[in-house]
Amino acid sequence: MIRRQQINDLLKSTAFNTEVKVMGWVKTFRNNQFIALNDGSCMANIQVVVDFNNTPENLLKRITTGAAITVEGILVESLGKGQTVEIKASKVEILGDSDAEKYPLQPKKHSLEFLREIAHLRFRTNTFNAVFKVRHALAFAIHQFYNERGFVYMHTPVITASDAEGAGEMFRVTTLDFDHTPRTEDGKVDFSADFFGRSTNLTVSGQLEGELAATAFGKIYTFGPTFRAENSNTTRHLAEFWMIEPEVAFADLENNMELAEDMMKYVISYAKDHCAEELAFLNNRLLEEEKQKPQNERSELSLLEKLDFCLNNDFQRLTYTEAIDILKASKPNQKKQFKYLIEGWGADLQSEHERYLVEKHFKKPVILTDYPKDIKSFYMRLNDDGKTVAAMDILFPGIGEMIGGSQREERLDVLTKRMEEMGVPQDELWWYLDTRRFGTVPHAGFGLGFERLVLFVTGMTNIRDVIAFPRFPKSAEF
Ligand code: 4AD
Ligand code: MG
Repeated sequence: MIRRQQINDLLKSTAFNTEVKVMGWVKTFRNNQFIALNDGSCMANIQVVVDFNNTPENLLKRITTGAAITVEGILVESLGKGQTVEIKASKVEILGDSDAEKYPLQPKKHSLEFLREIAHLRFRTNTFNAVFKVRHALAFAIHQFYNERGFVYMHTPVITASDAEGAGEMFRVTTLDFDHTPRTEDGKVDFSADFFGRSTNLTVSGQLEGELAATAFGKIYTFGPTFRAENSNTTRHLAEFWMIEPEVAFADLENNMELAEDMMKYVISYAKDHCAEELAFLNNRLLEEEKQKPQNERSELSLLEKLDFCLNNDFQRLTYTEAIDILKASKPNQKKQFKYLIEGWGADLQSEHERYLVEKHFKKPVILTDYPKDIKSFYMRLNDDGKTVAAMDILFPGIGEMIGGSQREERLDVLTKRMEEMGVPQDELWWYLDTRRFGTVPHAGFGLGFERLVLFVTGMTNIRDVIAFPRFPKSAEF
């Protein structure tokens, strides 16, 4: 018996006239003779040539788009255009039939919207093969980046009893019976009867637990799913997304910015080195897509040029206050083209403002720092001016906010005062405050939205197309 080989290996092979065996799914079957076969190991198909004179009619009929088959035959040099090798089949076996009439993924161009409705099958397309190979490479690169630098990978809990961002955007986790909810004397739901004996939710961020670990290991990172019950139906938001959160002891905002910029460049460069074929495909896909747009809406750079641009330029650093001055004086603000006009200092930046700074003004990734304390989270370190915090947001072209982070407030008295002001319950976070009671140190960290990174590197335009089974308002199919 010969062993099955992967198509990506065979396509590179020069072992002509040897016996080979492959398994895969039929993409197309032309003239009762040529099968384009794909096994997922690469985007390219291998051509299988069937001797139809010596193949039973009922078997030929079952070689349909989507069917799974085993092929044994001889690897030969191909005379056809666009391929160097093909398989002269001596034996074709059907592993799984696919009714050609009913198979939703017909061999033609489908819209991304349609493919989202058949997300269980869309991995079989070239686009999604490429996107998810790049996603894999980026995940791997992130682990490699932190591992090389001596960070410890922490698995922080998915179920928590706290709100790490203090923004109240949480999904509740409960086993209470909705039809007979236990009530306390004053009529409120009695969570002491719930599974954990208290109210719990899906985590919005692993940061707080990450800080506990960082103040023991020195530097750690998390990489896991996080959940936000925000009702945002945009191309940049998911209700379930993956976040990478490094946390470093003895580090300040400057160190934090350096780490973030190094990481971004490292993982983008890794993807370029390891996914050249996929990125070339996605580059062309985007060029084609851009052709549909009017000239003035097309981007100046191709996908690959954008990646290089990001690798070859320092991220622009500026403070929130400087950004407000730029935005106030900007054309879209003067001409009242922004939906939210910038009137003055203190305004929260909307994605239209972030994108103006990155895409129109600086035309490169931007690190904005030192935001007003009132629009940021309770744990960010208060600056000496008493008005701003040592926060940083990293903004990317086409994406907006890619990373959010800060130096943390390590002074117990300042932190508890901030929590009071912002209505963050201290009794629930007694364990967090303990890090400030026992050997507190300056420390800093940030969160990278993994899907936003994948969006940027693949040039896809909707975040729902870079996670396998997207979760968003009114949608939890598959
Ligand atoms: O800015 P955020 O909310 O920051 C935190 O959660 C901090 N605890 C991070 C830290 O300092 N350790 O989220 C961080 C990043 C954002 O910059 C964005 O890229 C991504 O997570 N993100 C989302 N991605 C997809 N869908 C959503 N609904 C997202 N919300 C945030
Ligand atoms: Mg943020």
